[in-house]
Amino acid sequence: MWEFPLFPEQASTIAGGVDSLYLFLVGLTAFFSVLIFTVIFVFAIIYRRRSDDERPEAIEGSHALEIFWSVVPFVIVMVIFTWGASLYFRNARSPDDAMEVNVVGKQWMWKIQHPEGRREINELHVPIGRPVRLTMTSEDVIHSFYVPAFRIKMDVLPGRYTTAWFEATKAGEFHLFCAEYCGTEHSKMGGKVVVLDPPAYERWVGGEEQGESLADLGARRFIELRCENCHYPGAGERGPSLAGLFGRIVPLEGGGTVEADESYFRESVLNPRAKVVAGFQPVMPTFQGQISEEQLLELIAYVRSLKAPQGEGR
Ligand code: CUA
Repeated sequence: MWEFPLFPEQASTIAGGVDSLYLFLVGLTAFFSVLIFTVIFVFAIIYRRRSDDERPEAIEGSHALEIFWSVVPFVIVMVIFTWGASLYFRNARSPDDAMEVNVVGKQWMWKIQHPEGRREINELHVPIGRPVRLTMTSEDVIHSFYVPAFRIKMDVLPGRYTTAWFEATKAGEFHLFCAEYCGTEHSKMGGKVVVLDPPAYERWVGGEEQGESLADLGARRFIELRCENCHYPGAGERGPSLAGLFGRIVPLEGGGTVEADESYFRESVLNPRAKVVAGFQPVMPTFQGQISEEQLLELIAYVRSLKAPQGEGR
């Protein structure tokens, strides 16, 4: 692909597609702007009034013309829609084999957790050629995670998870910005994404700052908060067992279902009565105010790691 000097470099699998659509839209707009201005100019000369008593012929209308100027814009708009929607879906759905990384935004920094336990601030190390899925939330106000070279930007909101994914195609360092005004030091809330080739990444992630894995930290938190009193493996009296629950569709008390994803777990910890699993009483206390966003993400990593017991459905 070409590299236009006004554009940031293209360093992800989606970047080329985004730029092609963008250039198509700019080209289309430029084409019609030039066409319209030229036609206005030329017609103003050709059809100018040549004498005071000149009277133009009355025009009764033309079906052919009406159809032409309805069908052409319709076709153009449908092309834009189909192209844009397919790109949007590609960008919105992360591949199943994506590597999970957690991002917590706060005034004014990005805190990153890798599943293996490594943490970093304002830096994100990733391997080249592997999809990375970001699960993001904020501790305070709205931020926005923006990596121009990857052509990804996603709002990071307090009180919920948003996700974004990318697959880096080039090794190197790329700017990371906060793209939503979030207070005094918004402009400094940035950093870099460091893309490494896979062996270098393995060395980095297993490096000296290696802590406990997120799932292990979550397991500890699970006991500290006494979650295991009701949610022990094979539970089913006071609370549902969490083994193998992640990603499943859960039937709810009072009808309906919910997918047991990150957002559902987060809500169930902070507001347990919102969606009670069918067959259980709303007896769980809230943990609002007792657990930070990062600890919540650790708990979720732990629950995600719990495999269903052999030969059991729940
Ligand atoms: Cu965070 Cu702007």
